[in-house]
Amino acid sequence: MTGLDIQHVSKSFALDGHAVPALADVSLGLQAGQFGALIGPSGCGKSTLLRMVADVFAPTAGSIAIDGAPPQQARRDHQIGFVFQEATLLPWRSVLDNVRLPLELLGKAGRAPARSPEELVRLVGLAGYEHARPSQLSGGMQQRCAIARALVASPKILLLDEPFGALDEVMRYRMNFELLRIRAETGTTALMVTHSIEEAVLMADRIFVFAARPGRIVETIEVDMPRPRRLATMDDPRFNATVDRVRRALFGQLPDALDHELDPSLAHEHA
Ligand SMILES: Nc1ncnc2c1ncn2[C@@H]1O[C@H](COP(=O)(O)OP(=O)(O)OP(=O)(O)O)[C@@H](O)[C@H]1O
Ligand SMILES: [Mg+2]
Repeated sequence: MTGLDIQHVSKSFALDGHAVPALADVSLGLQAGQFGALIGPSGCGKSTLLRMVADVFAPTAGSIAIDGAPPQQARRDHQIGFVFQEATLLPWRSVLDNVRLPLELLGKAGRAPARSPEELVRLVGLAGYEHARPSQLSGGMQQRCAIARALVASPKILLLDEPFGALDEVMRYRMNFELLRIRAETGTTALMVTHSIEEAVLMADRIFVFAARPGRIVETIEVDMPRPRRLATMDDPRFNATVDRVRRALFGQLPDALDHELDPSLAHEHA
């Protein structure tokens, strides 16, 4: 199967001599070129799942396949692009040299990049900063540099862990649309963690809503909206309907008392 196939994955961590389950029986699939979003409360295992897809560590049980290959092989073949919660740039390298790094690691075995490092730096809005060091950039600029770096080796799958959390609203939307455009051009499968319901709906084909303790998927929501997505997409009634569905799947995890505070139809009772 092409794309991403995660079957019955569980992960436990050892804590004080006990095995603490972080993820329990997570299954999800994305076809090649599809965009998936993970959303759920802090600590429900979203980053843990991404790290297992990236072969940072292995699941306790279950299987993961990237275009049919296990994560270990996909990582060896440099088929995985990863953007972490923090930008993780090399401080002694310039912006351009950070973006180039994966190509250097690939060496002669490398595929011809779909876009040159110079092009990608421009694409993420860092033109003029090619020779700056990461310490000379804002947090959001560092994050954009990390996105360019993740794309430079034309990976089969792009894993993004809250990549735009540090950006202001306008830059965030700009990056959302840039990423959608790049993904459409490259056909890369993408899996992104976000805490923003709107961002998930705007970007994704499928949204996986997680609950915590243990981390698990409580609902998979298909986003039935045409591409390319634009700002106007957010005016589409289907956009708000989908936002509503995701919100309900998330807030279904809250106790009733809190639920009432959030229910606008009950607002007059508090007035
Ligand atoms: N290397 C590790 N060793 C031990 N426990 C870990 C490790 N990594 C994650 N955990 C635990 O696994 C659980 C899930 O953590 P994870 O970072 O995946 O959550 P998350 O959904 O990404 O949260 P957030 O939204 O805050 O980023 C947490 O309880 C965390 O303490
Ligand atoms: Mg996380």
